[in-house]
Amino acid sequence: MSETILVTGSTGFIGARLLHCLEGRDFAVRVLLRPESNARSLPEGVDAVRADFSDPDALGRAVLGVARIVHLAGITRARNEEEFDRGNVMPVRNLLAAVREHNPGLKRFVLVSSLAAAGPASEGVHGVRESDEPRPVSAYGRSKLRAERICMDASGTVPVTIVRPPAVYGPGDRDVLQVFRMLSKGVLVSAGNPFVQRFSMIYVDDLVRGIMEAAYSGNAAGHLYYLTSRQTWSWDDVIAAARPSLGFGKLRRIVLPNPLVYLLGAFGGLAGRLSGKPPLINRDKANELVQDYWVCSSEKAAEELGFIAATQLAEGVGKTIAWYRKKGWM
Ligand SMILES: NC(=O)c1ccc[n+]([C@@H]2O[C@H](COP(=O)([O-])OP(=O)(O)OC[C@H]3O[C@@H](n4cnc5c(N)ncnc54)[C@H](OP(=O)(O)O)[C@@H]3O)[C@@H](O)[C@H]2O)c1
Repeated sequence: MSETILVTGSTGFIGARLLHCLEGRDFAVRVLLRPESNARSLPEGVDAVRADFSDPDALGRAVLGVARIVHLAGITRARNEEEFDRGNVMPVRNLLAAVREHNPGLKRFVLVSSLAAAGPASEGVHGVRESDEPRPVSAYGRSKLRAERICMDASGTVPVTIVRPPAVYGPGDRDVLQVFRMLSKGVLVSAGNPFVQRFSMIYVDDLVRGIMEAAYSGNAAGHLYYLTSRQTWSWDDVIAAARPSLGFGKLRRIVLPNPLVYLLGAFGGLAGRLSGKPPLINRDKANELVQDYWVCSSEKAAEELGFIAATQLAEGVGKTIAWYRKKGWM
């Protein structure tokens, strides 16, 4: 084995797929597990270090001797900015501090951020670019942006690369699963203007490849990249891609008016505050749902990393639905 790569968030959707794709490759993998992480689904024999992101000594042990770090751990739901900071910002700050102290020779720190850090585009053809001023519309997006800024501030001492995926779909994902479940019943409930909306998406195995390009490319240190499909899609494209696998006939489409989406967001936020649990929908989530163009440009990653997300929507959706069925999720 030539070198060791440390992966955080390895028990999540993208992390699990990353480990799967790394199996049999010519480097060792270490995972950082939080005290509360559920390690049951990890491949057998994987080198795991338990570390609380607020424990500098444990983080020091986790980063010691690794050549590269892929930081995937994070949260997409929380009750407020402080909770998002604890999940998305503090771990980045403390990991980078541990790297400076215990592993100054680290070759690359890859932060997996999100299109949410930039916010939606103002048009649906080219989408947002890396050089555009970020305009996040949610606390989640703002927390990812704060984490990015900490990374960029550290880039004088740690070689950091930030990647921003748009919506990720594929085996193991539980978010886009909800859309396929609705479609399988011949229904689609959506928010915003479905006749205008366009989105970038990426199949998880393409993303994993892009993350590895970002971790290994000599040119990528100090840079930010969108890792996304070249095309953008409408709801009609997603419906057409899913139809052959799901076999639904006539589709009943229900479009929630924006005031109702925001009302649901307000109730969800209140329920979250009363129950102490992160809600499924709140004002922020409502804000994200009604946007027209969650679209970003694949150009810089193609030019500088040579990265192309090759999986076509119909192929990716077909594989994803087949996986859900095999696992009994659908
Ligand atoms: N899925 C998408 O569509 C998408 C799109 C853009 C960006 N991203 C970003 O990609 C990363 C991975 O996403 P994912 O879809 O794989 O998410 P996921 O399935 O929710 O996994 C995230 C992982 O983060 C760790 N985690 C959970 N709670 C945490 C907390 N309070 N503090 C720190 N870490 C915590 C857990 O791993 P351990 O238990 O192993 O620590 C969890 O499995 C995230 O940073 C997310 O923001 C995802």
